Amino acid sequence: MADRVLSTRKSEGSDKKETVKLSVDSDQLMWVEKYRPKRLADVFDQEQVVSGVQALMKRPREMPHLLFAGPPGTGKTSIALCIAYEIMGEAWPDYTLELNASNERGIETVRERIKNFASYGDRREGIPFRIVLLDESDSMTSDAQTALRRIMEESSKTTRFILTANYSSNIIEPIQSRCSVFRFSRLAEADVVQYLKEICKREGVKFEKEALEKIYEATEGDMRHALNMLQAASTLGDISSESVNKVTGLSGKSKVADILDLAFQGEFQDARNKMIELLQVGGMSEHDFIKFANEALTRSDFASSIEAIQATAEADYRLLQGTNPDIQLSAYLATLAKIGTEVSRSKKKI
Ligand SMILES: Nc1ncnc2c1ncn2[C@@H]1O[C@H](COP(=O)(O)OP(=O)(O)OP(=O)(O)O)[C@@H](O)[C@H]1O
Ligand SMILES: [Mg+2]
Repeated sequence: MADRVLSTRKSEGSDKKETVKLSVDSDQLMWVEKYRPKRLADVFDQEQVVSGVQALMKRPREMPHLLFAGPPGTGKTSIALCIAYEIMGEAWPDYTLELNASNERGIETVRERIKNFASYGDRREGIPFRIVLLDESDSMTSDAQTALRRIMEESSKTTRFILTANYSSNIIEPIQSRCSVFRFSRLAEADVVQYLKEICKREGVKFEKEALEKIYEATEGDMRHALNMLQAASTLGDISSESVNKVTGLSGKSKVADILDLAFQGEFQDARNKMIELLQVGGMSEHDFIKFANEALTRSDFASSIEAIQATAEADYRLLQGTNPDIQLSAYLATLAKIGTEVSRSKKKI
């Protein structure tokens, strides 16, 4: 692994997933940022994407707009930032605008910011274009995407867009056809375990290999989640199965199951308060909440129903549309409470 330099990344808006997920001392740097790859050669796994992007880097001036699609924590934003660094060197932060589409939902804001950015100052020699990195672009409505397509056309002389998305199917066809699409896959177990090992060595933390495998099992190829879990476990001492078990408990899977239990018992308000605490204080993303809810509901020991699983799919879909997560998850818990009350009423009748 090449030497990594601490990221000088300018953050546009807050990256909730990366700033609050873990409760470590504020003066202790988050490992996800400390070890974010700076150059393409530092990226682990994703060989196909990396070799495709490296081919484009041979003639950077001809680089098309790019769309990176795939699961969370697999390197989409990181590779976009590596591209900016590979093309512009240390000057990249001056010529790269990072917008988080979920935070900057209004297309007018996006338009205004891109316009200001594209017209701001002269480009230095050797800087072929500016880069606009539009993260989580699949959370934009299709109207906003249509407007975005026009903005892309208007500014394409001076600007290249790199869009990232979890699901490319949520990106309108005219945008997809203007981009080279790269598909990211979940990272393989051997690669993640190897990577975690190297980080443990760099941080001087002792580890058991089984514990690292356990981290992989719990995080399913999401490197951000794996690194956060590793760092959380390291605050408890060596990385052992025991410390990882504690952290996976803390990471919320079981808490989500408890919240669903409360909802099913008709304790809606209590369930909602705990859900808000888990998201706002615990730092769990709404996506993880729904993912863990689905896992709990499909577990054989959990008394759930088809309606509950349908409600989960509905909530997942709505969240992806970029609707207000608090309202959607509250409505979800209310639906579970209703289902729970109906089930217990029909049991009483029997
Ligand atoms: N392929 C990889 N190689 C090395 N580190 C990685 C890789 N993928 C992810 N990481 C680590 O995980 C962190 C988060 O990755 P990144 O922000 O690139 O994910 P993402 O694919 O953009 O996720 P999301 O869809 O949630 O935005 C990085 O800071 C880095 O530390
Ligand atoms: Mg990202």
